[in-house]
Amino acid sequence: MSSIVSRGSSTTVQGRGEGPLRARCEVLAYRKLGGYHSLTFVAPEMAERAQPGQFVAVAVEAREATLRRPFSIYSVSQHGPWAGTVEIIFDVVGPGTRWLATRSKHHVVDLVGPLGKPFPLPAQPVSCLLVGGGYGAAPLLYLAQALAQQSLRVDMLLGAATQERIFNAIEAKRLSASAQFTTEDGSLGVEGVVTDVMPRMIEAAGTGVIYACGPMAMLAAVSAAAKELDVPCQVAVEEEMACGTGVCWTCVLPYRRKDGVVNLRACTDGPVFNGARVAWSAVGTSAMANAEDGRGRGRRGGRAEPAP
Ligand SMILES: Cc1cc2nc3c(=O)[nH]c(=O)nc-3n(C[C@H](O)[C@H](O)[C@H](O)COP(=O)(O)OP(=O)(O)OC[C@H]3O[C@@H](n4cnc5c(N)ncnc54)[C@H](O)[C@@H]3O)c2cc1C
Ligand code: FES
Repeated sequence: MSSIVSRGSSTTVQGRGEGPLRARCEVLAYRKLGGYHSLTFVAPEMAERAQPGQFVAVAVEAREATLRRPFSIYSVSQHGPWAGTVEIIFDVVGPGTRWLATRSKHHVVDLVGPLGKPFPLPAQPVSCLLVGGGYGAAPLLYLAQALAQQSLRVDMLLGAATQERIFNAIEAKRLSASAQFTTEDGSLGVEGVVTDVMPRMIEAAGTGVIYACGPMAMLAAVSAAAKELDVPCQVAVEEEMACGTGVCWTCVLPYRRKDGVVNLRACTDGPVFNGARVAWSAVGTSAMANAEDGRGRGRRGGRAEPAP
C-alpha cells in the first residue's frame, strides 16, 4: 500500500503549521441536491487549507444536540467574489441535521475545520476506483477532482438503497472515465450492492487503488473484496464523534498493527484508513456509549484485542 499512495499532502500541511481553524461562517447558499441538502459557507481560510477526505465540525443550535456534528467537505472554491467557500452535503437524520436544514443565506454558523487526515494521493500513475455509498459519494467527488488534476484515471461506483439516495450521479459521470451505479431496488443501474459490480470494474479499468466512503458495513465489504482482489483500499470511516479533535476518544476504531489490534481515533488518526488493516469484526465492540450522555467508549491508545 505504502508504495502506491503517499501521505505527502498532509505532511505538507503540517509542515506549514496549518491546523484546523474555528470560524463563524456566513451561509452563502442552501440548496436541495437530489435526496440530500447542501450548505455552502463563506470560509476562505478553511477553503485554502482543505483537502479531500477532511471534514468540518459544525456547532448546531438544537436543544437536544450539544456536540458539534461532523460533515465531510464536498467542495471548496478558493476564487470568486466570496474569496473562498466550503460546501457540505447532509441527510436529515436527527436534531442537528434538522436544524442545519433550516439554515439559509446570511445565517451564521460556527465551524471548526478542516479536521482529520485527507485521502493519501497515489505516488504512482495508477488507475483509481472511487466507491461511494449514499452521501459518502460527496468527499469522493471532491477527491476525483484532485486525482484528475494529477491526470489519473478515475472510475466511479456509487451505490444506495434507491435512485434518490445516489448522490449526484451526473457529477460522477462528468468526473470519471466510467461510472456505474447500484441500487437495492434496481431503480438505477444494477440491482444489488457495490461489491456485486466492483470486480468487473477493477478488471476493466486495471484499478491500482480503491478509495471508498459510505456506511461502515459497506466499507467492510469493500475492504474485504479489495483484499481478495489484491488491490489497496483507502476508506473514509464515519465513526460517531464527540469532540472531533482527538481529546475524548469517543471515535475509536480497532486497527491492526504488527503486534496486535490498537484503538485509533477516527477524528485525528483518520477518518481515512487503510481498509485492509481495520479490524472490521471488532468495530463498535469497544463498549461505545453516546458521548452526549456523558459516557465515552474509548481506551486511550489501548490495545483492543490481541491480533487474530
Ligand atoms: C467524519 C464524518 C463525516 C461525515 N460526513 C457526513 C456527510 O458528509 N453528510 C452527512 O449527512 N453525514 C455525515 N456524517 C454523519 C453526521 O455527522 C451525522 O449524521 C450527524 O452528526 C447526525 O446528527 P443529528 O443531530 O442530526 O442526529 P443524531 O441524533 O446525532 O443521530 C441520528 C441517527 O444517526 C446516527 N448517527 C449519528 N452520527 C453518525 C455517524 N457518524 N455515522 C453513522 N450514524 C450516525 C445516530 O446513531 C442516530 O441513529 C459524517 C460523520 C463523520 C464522523
Ligand atoms: S471524537 Fe473525540 S477523540 Fe475523536
